[in-house]
Amino acid sequence: MGRIATAPPGLRRNLKERPRRLRRNAALRALVRETRLSPSQLILPLFVTSGHDRDEPIASLPGHSRLSTDRAVAVARDIAKVGVGGVILFGIPDAKDGEGRAASDPDGPVANTLRALRDSGLPLALAADVCLCEYTTHGHCGVIVDGDVDNDATLPIISEAAVVYAEAGADIVGPSGMMDGQVAAIREALDGSGHTQTAILAYSSKAASAFYGPFREAAGSAPAFGDRRGYQMDFANGREALREMELDVREGADMLMVKPALTSLDLLARARQRFDVPLAAYHVSGEVAMIEAAAAKGWIDRRSAALESLTAIARAGADVILTYFAADAARWLQE
Ligand code: PBG
Repeated sequence: MGRIATAPPGLRRNLKERPRRLRRNAALRALVRETRLSPSQLILPLFVTSGHDRDEPIASLPGHSRLSTDRAVAVARDIAKVGVGGVILFGIPDAKDGEGRAASDPDGPVANTLRALRDSGLPLALAADVCLCEYTTHGHCGVIVDGDVDNDATLPIISEAAVVYAEAGADIVGPSGMMDGQVAAIREALDGSGHTQTAILAYSSKAASAFYGPFREAAGSAPAFGDRRGYQMDFANGREALREMELDVREGADMLMVKPALTSLDLLARARQRFDVPLAAYHVSGEVAMIEAAAAKGWIDRRSAALESLTAIARAGADVILTYFAADAARWLQE
């Protein structure tokens, strides 16, 4: 090191390859940028409730709220203006039960909001998450039989919910409960009810993760007993993640998702090589909350950290990114 510092000015090495040539100014860097984010590839998660003019802020997700249908439509209108690609709806029901029946209520918050969004004519892709955890008293993603989440007993219930959302106007349904055979069951139910055009975004590789904390606060969906490791994946497993994706492709998934995003970049890269269907990544609540918290303390630059995260997710292979930063990122990308 010392030698370089004391080298006489003007001494130049005969380097043929100098990658820095294309980093010299902003125009050159823009020209050769490999990964370009577009607002149209971003999906904003929305938590929807009953009622009117309701807006209950979610403390751990600054800028996000539980919204009644009218307020959700207002947000959708704003984000459509800046080119965000779509929304995915999560329902907060008025009442829960053991079987999560409210998930398939045709007058529940998700179905109502889907109809309102459909009627609004906004140019957004409309997705609905399909899972029971927001709707069950115990907070698990399926029905409980003999103290455990019963896979096959859950399938008809989530299939019914998917049909209700398709009926209400969803372009995409996203089963997130990690039940075996959920994609096949939902595809069959959709086709059987005439919804052959409704696409399935499979949460294929969803890890039992510590990064869902803020979401569970928002949705009131933390499990009342035990945890989700009996159905969500062990985050240590990569080959198993690929196998889950393979199964979902065979069951008829139109798109595959990995989740959380930043802890699954290797899975995205491997999936990109192996599958030709569109790939999505869910930049989950805890990933966003970490940036928000650090930014609030002045320890990190919020905008740069958010855009760097989203760009890395796209670089790894994601076509579609579900992110709480969708609205802000779309605005930043337009500047
Ligand atoms: C459950 C579901 C969860 C998320 C999306 N769908 C939570 C969980 O599995 O506990 C998490 C999303 C986030 O953290 O932003 N159906």
